[in-house]
Amino acid sequence: MVELFEILTYPNEFLKKSSRQVENIDEDIQLIIDRMAATMYQAPGVGLAAVQVGIDLSIIVYDISPKDEKPDLQVLINPVIVESNGSTVTENEGCLSVPDLQANVKRHEFVSVDALDRHGNSVQLEAKDLLAIVLQHEIDHLNGVLFIDRISSLKRNMYKKRVKKQIKRNERKKA
Ligand code: CO
Repeated sequence: MVELFEILTYPNEFLKKSSRQVENIDEDIQLIIDRMAATMYQAPGVGLAAVQVGIDLSIIVYDISPKDEKPDLQVLINPVIVESNGSTVTENEGCLSVPDLQANVKRHEFVSVDALDRHGNSVQLEAKDLLAIVLQHEIDHLNGVLFIDRISSLKRNMYKKRVKKQIKRNERKKA
C-alpha cells in the first residue's frame, strides 16, 4: 500500500496554481500517480488532479466505473481540451477540495482531449456524458479553477461564509 496524500481544500491558495507540463515520465511520476490513485479511492472520489495534493504538475486520475463493478483507473498526463461542443449540460458536481458542497455546473456536452498515458503514449479521447464532465472538472483544476468558480456568485459567497465560520470554529477549538 502506497502512502496517501493529504488533499488540499478551499481556500488553500495552491489550488489556484496553474500546473506545469510533465516533461519526463519517470519513476517519481509513477509513484505520484500511484499515490494519487490510492488517495482518490480512499477519499472516495471520482477524480483527482495533482494540484489537489500539492503537486503542480499536469496529471489527473479518475475512475467513473459504477461502484458495483471492477475499478477502472484512468491516468492522463498533460491533458488538453482541443475541442468542445454540443449543448450545455448541467450536472450536480462535488469536489474533494470543496468539502460539503454540491452544486449545478454548466459544462460542454462533448469534449475532445489530447493527453499522454502513464507510459508516455499519446491518447485522444472523445468524451461525452459523465466522462466529458469529469474531464472538464479535472482539467479546470490544472488551470487553477474550482467548480465553485463556475457557480452563481450568490451560492459561492454562501459557501465562502460557511467555510470562514468553520475555520473560526476550528481555531477556537484549538485555542
Ligand atoms: Co475537483
